[in-house]
Parts: sequence; C-alpha cells; structure tokens
Amino acid sequence: MFSVTDLTKTFGSKTAVDKVSFELTEPRMIGVIGASGAGKSTLLRMVNRLADATSGSIHFDGREITTLRGAAKRAWQSDCAMIFQQFNLVPRMDVVSNVLHGTLNTRSTLATMFNLYPDEDIHRAIDILDRLGIAEQAPKRAEALSGGQQQRVAIARALMQDPKIILADEPIASLDPMNAQIVMDALRRIHEEDGRFVIANLHTLDTARRYCDRVIGMRDGRVVFDGTPEQLTTGVARDIYGAGADFSEDATSTDIDAIGRNQAARQRAKAIV
Ligand SMILES: Nc1ncnc2c1ncn2[C@@H]1O[C@H](COP(=O)(O)OP(=O)(O)OP(=O)(O)O)[C@@H](O)[C@H]1O
Ligand SMILES: [Mg+2]
Repeated sequence: MFSVTDLTKTFGSKTAVDKVSFELTEPRMIGVIGASGAGKSTLLRMVNRLADATSGSIHFDGREITTLRGAAKRAWQSDCAMIFQQFNLVPRMDVVSNVLHGTLNTRSTLATMFNLYPDEDIHRAIDILDRLGIAEQAPKRAEALSGGQQQRVAIARALMQDPKIILADEPIASLDPMNAQIVMDALRRIHEEDGRFVIANLHTLDTARRYCDRVIGMRDGRVVFDGTPEQLTTGVARDIYGAGADFSEDATSTDIDAIGRNQAARQRAKAIV
C-alpha cells in the first residue's frame, strides 16, 4: 500500500538519506528517531516531494510518487499533509482562516485572493477545531494562542486536506510536556479513528514508545532499527544515537519525572565538579 525502496538523497558529497526502505501494508503510526543530522527531516521531505530524491522510489496505492509532476504532484502533496515544529501558521490571521488555508490546493487564485470560502468549508473547519478541542479559539489571531493550541490549529489545517498520510517533523519539540501529550494524543486519535498513516519524527524515545506502532531508527542516513516499541531497548537506542556507555534515556525524554531525574543528575554532576 505504502512503500519506500532504497530512497536516497545526496547533497554534494554528503549522503543525507542512504537507501532507506520500509513497507506499510495498512495505516500505521510510525515514529522516526535518530540523532541530529541522521536524515529524518530529509526523509519526510522526500515523501512529501518538498525535496526530490536522488534515487530510489516511493509507492502509494500502486502509484510511483517520486516522478509525479505538476497537478499530480500537487494532488499528492495534498494527500500527505505536513506538520512542522514551528507550526507555520500565519500569526496575524485568525485561527479559522489559518485552517481554511488547508483547502488552498483545491481553490481558484481569485477565491483565495478575496478570502472567499464556501460555507460548508467554514463549517467543516469549525467541526475539525471542535474535534481538537479548540473551537472556541476560532475567531482569535493565531499568535494569541499557546504553542500547544497553535500546533492543534496546524493539525486542523492538515485535516482540511483530508490527507491519507500526516507527516509530522518534530511536532512536539517546542512544547512543554503537558502540551506535547495533548498534541500526540490528537495525532494518535486521528490515526486510529480516521485510519490515516502518521509518520512523526520524534526526538524523544519515550514518546515514540508510547504512541507509535512501529519505530524506525536512523543513523547517518541509514535505517539501523525497524521494529516495535518493545524491541526498542536501551541498548538498541544507544546504538541508534551512537552514544557511549554514559547514554541516558532521560536525556531524550519529555516525561516530567524523567526531566526531573535528568536535572537532578546534572546538578549532582555539577556538585562533584
Ligand atoms: N539543503 C541541504 N543542503 C545541504 N545539506 C543538507 C541539506 N539538508 C540537509 N542536509 C544535511 O543532510 C543531513 C541530514 O539532515 P536532516 O535535516 O535530514 O537531519 P535530521 O535527522 O532531521 O536532524 P535534526 O534532528 O537536527 O532535525 C545533515 O548532515 C544535513 O546537514
Ligand atoms: Mg530534522
């Protein structure tokens, strides 16, 4: 149904993504983990066609994605919505207009210029905001919302496209633990209730373990782990992150207790120095 085969991206002499392959026969929630520079963002950008692959292929429902051009490429980009760490909303525009921007691909330039949206789209936008628990924020400017609320607006904008796949590049990296949980819960619910694929780059192991059906670990552009959260042991994680014996899971954790433990450990280390 959805497969990536030997997908590769080079920048000059640097191979950012190196022959990555995986196959999904039904909608899943996938976590991609790995150290900074491992190639996680480049992988998502190739799937969405924001970046062209150097070689390899992507198949979805029998279609080759890497060679799509023009309208077919735009249709694909509408089928796989992208969510970013920094939300990418229009800050001074109201929430509901930000969400309606998700229909941009399907509307005429003139209608967009004059901000003309059909009533049914406006109702759908409000319904989606309601589903994410932020309908009452609809008339406010996006910049007036908290980070967690803004990320839910970005998810709502993605859902307006009715995408088959949601690609999330570090969706909770700028959020506090409480908001991180709300946003991950929302993504999980969208996956389960709507049967959409979700592929999320995550910088914390515990989030990947808690929310994902399957975790892909990348190191230096390659897939070095592909398995269930149960198989993602501390030893395996150490290998993915290329860390030595002092590797601590808490260092990659958003869990409130773990952050506390991590800070306490750092303070102890300082005291010793
Ligand atoms: N446009 C580009 N031009 C040149 N090199 C690039 C470009 N984009 C990414 N790279 C390089 O490709 C490698 C992978 O980058 P990528 O952003 O995919 O990593 P990442 O796993 O998302 O890292 P992070 O966790 O820091 O977001 C890095 O070495 C990066 O410097
Ligand atoms: Mg990245």
